[in-house]
Amino acid sequence: MKTISVSIIGFGAVGQGVAKVLVDKKEYLENLGLDFKVVAVADSRTAAIDENGVDLNAVLSRKQDEGVVGSEKLTGLEIIETIDHDVVVETTPTNIVTGGVGLQNMLAAFKHGRDVVTSNKGPLAMKYGELMEAASEGGSNFKYEATVGGAMPVLNLAKDVLAGNSITNVEGIFNGTCNYILTRMMEEHASYEQMLAEAQELGYAETDPTYDVEGIDTACKLVILANCVFGMNATHEDVTVSGITRITPEALLLAQNEGYVIKLIGEVNDSRINVAPKLVPIDHPLAVGGSLNVASVQTDLSGPITVTGRGAGSVETASAILSDMISIYRD
Ligand SMILES: NC(=O)c1ccc[n+]([C@@H]2O[C@H](COP(=O)([O-])OP(=O)(O)OC[C@H]3O[C@@H](n4cnc5c(N)ncnc54)[C@H](OP(=O)(O)O)[C@@H]3O)[C@@H](O)[C@H]2O)c1
Repeated sequence: MKTISVSIIGFGAVGQGVAKVLVDKKEYLENLGLDFKVVAVADSRTAAIDENGVDLNAVLSRKQDEGVVGSEKLTGLEIIETIDHDVVVETTPTNIVTGGVGLQNMLAAFKHGRDVVTSNKGPLAMKYGELMEAASEGGSNFKYEATVGGAMPVLNLAKDVLAGNSITNVEGIFNGTCNYILTRMMEEHASYEQMLAEAQELGYAETDPTYDVEGIDTACKLVILANCVFGMNATHEDVTVSGITRITPEALLLAQNEGYVIKLIGEVNDSRINVAPKLVPIDHPLAVGGSLNVASVQTDLSGPITVTGRGAGSVETASAILSDMISIYRD
């Protein structure tokens, strides 16, 4: 059995999802010869630390009941810098202006030779080159499937599963909030404002939905795809972006009468990175409804390979993190 010591930095929806799947999949992981021992958990104010393994069920209950993970005052960054462990699961909030605390955490992890698995797209969309260089200098593994499409496997699909193929284009729906709003506008012949309000009520949209509906969140994911799959050194300034705020129910109805739906499509290839609402034939694989994500990877040997799945959710996103953790240590 290989024991891998882990910190979980950020204990919101995704961090808690990771804790839950590590508890639920303990036996499954042991059958793979892997024992992930969480030695530290941090939220924004507190930490729980135990070099023999933190009791994850107790930490989950405490977070639920008291809003904190523990009573220690160490910050996530201090944990990364001072506690000896193998892998940092970085699940703090996304900041696409500076890269935020996530960027500092990842750079510190690499400086100390730790591996990093993350769902936090901010640092990758802002400082991809710097992070790759730091990971390489630290001799660290760096995996980030969860940053693009949550549970939907697209980065590892394009990089690993389809190895041997040249990828010529990736296009898809990478924002569940926009997909939900457009789907419901079409179903109800309702306005953008009405369906945004519904999405907010149901928790599919943030109180400030700007990043989602203006296409900025999709643009960040395309930047990660461009850099990871196409070997570019792109930033969000290289993406042409338009969002969904000006789409009307009348436009959706016209499209529907001609056999189309309107979707916010992100597309990346060697020559362009683009986010825009597009007409998609109603029976096309990209025409998925509700809050689903979808990605179609165009390859030279296999033609198009399309995957669809949940782009968000606590355990769903944790599944991508767990899969990255397994892929680092299984061999
Ligand atoms: N939710 C999803 O479905 C999803 C899907 C894909 C990717 N992501 C990305 O995954 C990341 C986590 O998302 P989430 O939904 O779990 O966010 P969240 O619910 O807002 O949780 C963020 C967590 O980070 C903690 N935190 C904030 N500042 C910190 C600091 N300086 N040090 C340590 N912890 C800190 C927060 O502490 P408190 O609890 O004390 O506030 C909270 O526990 C984000 O980058 C998000 O964009 C999320």
